[in-house]
Amino acid sequence: MKIAVCGKGGVGKSTISAFLIGALLNRGRKVLAIDADPSPHLARLLGFDDSSITPIAEMKELLNERSGRDGPFYNLNPKVDDLPEKFMKKRNGLSLMVLGAIQQGGAGCACADNAVLRNLLNRLLLSEDEDIVLDMEAGVEHLGRGTIASVDHILVVVQPYRGSIETAEKIDKLARDLKIKSLHIVANNCQDDEDVKFIQQMCGRPPIGVFYFSSDARKAERLGVPLLDAAPEMVKAADQLISKLEQV
Ligand SMILES: Nc1ncnc2c1ncn2[C@@H]1O[C@H](COP(=O)(O)OP(=O)(O)OP(=O)(O)O)[C@@H](O)[C@H]1O
Ligand SMILES: [Mg+2]
Repeated sequence: MKIAVCGKGGVGKSTISAFLIGALLNRGRKVLAIDADPSPHLARLLGFDDSSITPIAEMKELLNERSGRDGPFYNLNPKVDDLPEKFMKKRNGLSLMVLGAIQQGGAGCACADNAVLRNLLNRLLLSEDEDIVLDMEAGVEHLGRGTIASVDHILVVVQPYRGSIETAEKIDKLARDLKIKSLHIVANNCQDDEDVKFIQQMCGRPPIGVFYFSSDARKAERLGVPLLDAAPEMVKAADQLISKLEQV
């Protein structure tokens, strides 16, 4: 299955992405993790040495070369098919590609860079050999219909406060405009049932998965150690969420 994880800044997208990746790996599946976060740190959460990873979005020379940028002109369909092989990190059934931020619109340079990044993302999402988890920034607007259509499930992470739920409503509206069928709410950082109920009421539907506040996850993040072995209760919640998605 191909899962995109979005939601307001800081709600726990990367954390939940990491645990979903773990849950899929535990099922013996091959997983491709794509980090399209402006400040990507999925690598660290998954236990990769992130000092050796440069997000593709920061490889200016490569982006210039591939986009063929010449003043206001650039290649709308840049070559990207050799890039996964070159830049993918691999370990025990897990592949990781760190893209970095794909911006919306923008002038000159950003537009040309985005053509490369978007092409690369589309190419990665085509993969049929493995499950995919895409850790994104807040919205889905910068991705476009074609990209979004190749994802099976969009998970919008919310926390039990209004701001995060308002962002979720915006994403939901955009997704409906793009005719996306499988969009689900995931509750994170809940303290008790009241928090879950609040999210359900505000969103008008129950969350498909619930992650409670985890002091283990917090500690692991502070220490900079891989998350997956550190917080068994989060592992369990991710496993339940994957089971539910399998039934959708
Ligand atoms: N269920 C949880 N229990 C405890 N801490 C959590 C939980 N979920 C997330 N956190 C903590 O909250 C912080 C933000 O989480 P994370 O980086 O996953 O959010 P994000 O949505 O990816 O942020 P950004 O928008 O910056 O990419 C981290 O320090 C993380 O350890
Ligand atoms: Mg993140």
